[in-house]
Amino acid sequence: MDFKTVRDVDVRGRRVFVRADLNVPLDDGRITDDTRIRASLPTLVHLLERGATVILASHLGRPKGKVNDALRLKPVADRLSQLLGRPVRMTGDALGPGVQVAIDKLRAGDLLLLENLRFHADEEANSPEFAAALARLADLYVNDAFGAAHRAHASTEGITHHLPAVAGLLMEREVEALSRLLKKPSRPFHAVIGGAKVSGKLEVLGVLLSRCQAVLVGGGMANTFLAARGLEMGKSLVEADQLLNAERMVTEARRRRVRLMLPTDVVVAPQIHHRAKTQVVAVNAVPKDQMIVDIGPDTRAAYAAHLVKARTILWNGPMGVFEIAQFAEGTNQMARVVAARTAAGTVTIVGGGDSVAAVEGLGLADRMTHVSTGGGASLEYIEGKTLPGVAALLPVDAEIVFAEDDA
Ligand code: 3PG
Repeated sequence: MDFKTVRDVDVRGRRVFVRADLNVPLDDGRITDDTRIRASLPTLVHLLERGATVILASHLGRPKGKVNDALRLKPVADRLSQLLGRPVRMTGDALGPGVQVAIDKLRAGDLLLLENLRFHADEEANSPEFAAALARLADLYVNDAFGAAHRAHASTEGITHHLPAVAGLLMEREVEALSRLLKKPSRPFHAVIGGAKVSGKLEVLGVLLSRCQAVLVGGGMANTFLAARGLEMGKSLVEADQLLNAERMVTEARRRRVRLMLPTDVVVAPQIHHRAKTQVVAVNAVPKDQMIVDIGPDTRAAYAAHLVKARTILWNGPMGVFEIAQFAEGTNQMARVVAARTAAGTVTIVGGGDSVAAVEGLGLADRMTHVSTGGGASLEYIEGKTLPGVAALLPVDAEIVFAEDDA
């Protein structure tokens, strides 16, 4: 990799500020998917086993600079403690006199979790004072928060102006997997793109059309492509302001001789409800009073058959409203197909919160080559954007100089 990692530093006796992305989904205070916590473990264990003192920090949700009791990191601390098999102490704030007192009590091999960084507006504002104050808590900075690397915040970017900054093991694994995908994917490289909206994925679609041999579209965004063809979409979600962009994508795919596959049949329902009556119809026969909630069986079979040829698969975004069991078959089947391709030797990368949740929910995460913890971050990386959190890491040939060495 182009940057230094935790493996390049002797951390014994050092206070290490670890920025992780522990932004997990919560339902009434209960963690519904702990993937990001589990994904942070290798770096934490690496540091603790080598005698570092770990000061762990993360954001949770978007509290907009105010304390919000529903977004405290306590459930995360509890889960982390179960996974690490040791108590995880927490502070009541990310910064302040109490934090310093707690840190002063820590010994080598101890870990302390700071409260949600985003309770301070200075975090997202990337305030230089806030970043400097966070930096004063430690000797070394480790960024393992790939999921937040597209944000230039105090704990992901500002802090690196004050401390030697290296990547954690998750950050390294994520960047390695995604950069390999962009630089030298085994071909054919097929992308499966879903989710609700075309608008959020236009740039990534553009990039994928320049790299893939086929792009398979599902989810709500497929409706916009079908509507652009002039098809009646009933009550389905359609982005009227994206019809032209969808048409442009189709033309671009044709020009590049990329196969852009759209659903041929769909599951429709009168409303989004777990007991709604569903039916399968051809895409040119969507009733006016119905909405598309999933891809249909013919489409699933056609997509599965096409993916058999792929040597690399990127999957981002669900094929339908998968949160509701009876609309989830397209997404679930896609997860099973992609897992089967991994077993057959295809490199498979799953990114984006919803498709990852589907894969996790089916217990198939271990059967993918890589499951990214980054939603927005993985999309921006694939779009070719510079992620501030990655750009701020020390280059691989840099010397690591601690403050006291410098004095
Ligand atoms: C995510 O969930 O994608 C990351 O944790 C970043 O969160 P954010 O979009 O609120 O910055």
